[in-house]
Amino acid sequence: MRKPFVAGNWKMHGSKASIKDLMTGLNAKSGLIGDVTVAICPPAVYLDYTHKCLAGDGIFVGAQNMCQVPGQGAYTGELSASMLKDCGCQYVILGHSERRAIYGETDALIAEKVSVALDSGLTPILCVGETLEEREANQVESVIGRQLDAVLNKVGIDKFSAIVIAYEPVWAIGTGKTASSAQAQEVHAFIRGKLAGLNPAVAEKVIIQYGGSVKPDNAKELFGQPDIDGGLIGGASLNADDFMAICQAAG
Ligand code: G3P
Repeated sequence: MRKPFVAGNWKMHGSKASIKDLMTGLNAKSGLIGDVTVAICPPAVYLDYTHKCLAGDGIFVGAQNMCQVPGQGAYTGELSASMLKDCGCQYVILGHSERRAIYGETDALIAEKVSVALDSGLTPILCVGETLEEREANQVESVIGRQLDAVLNKVGIDKFSAIVIAYEPVWAIGTGKTASSAQAQEVHAFIRGKLAGLNPAVAEKVIIQYGGSVKPDNAKELFGQPDIDGGLIGGASLNADDFMAICQAAG
């Protein structure tokens, strides 16, 4: 049985004041969450502050990106895996569609980052997903298979026992056009089936989150699907009540 996992991806939102407000709301409600793993992924400048605000609350902290270079060095503007760990991070989102589309992150670069994250003791949340054009061209499985293969070829199937996968159809991110639970389940089953072809035991254990316009009113149906093990939440994670409602729906 896989323990559901819900993470909030704050993207480029937040301030110390809003974090404090959100933490107050989360701290007040964290006792209402069932047996669900919960993480918050704020902008990097607030990682240490958020970790201190969450101290002892059983809510994990994650980063939204990291450098593919192991160790530290002359990489202006970059963040090393060791620095994320130093700030209390357990997770790091890698390969988010916004990093791929806006910043040109390739499958190969993302695979490098996943490898360094694993070596540093971080749990990658590896994002995969197709664009609307790719879906309409019936390329969903080829696109997601390619995205997964880059990481499989780099780290191997056994390391996927320490990787969380987030399926995020690009056309559902921030649009309010959530994938139907059937559409999401179909892709989650494809992902798990692909991994099962290499190692059934690892495939059975891997947490596969859904992301893309998850809200309190659609979370329960999505999370009730056999291969959907929680969510990666954007906009709704910025509101404590909505985020807690989604976490409760996963329990
Ligand atoms: O990483 C999660 C994010 O891409 C989903 O955003 O606002 O559609 O929940 P949103």
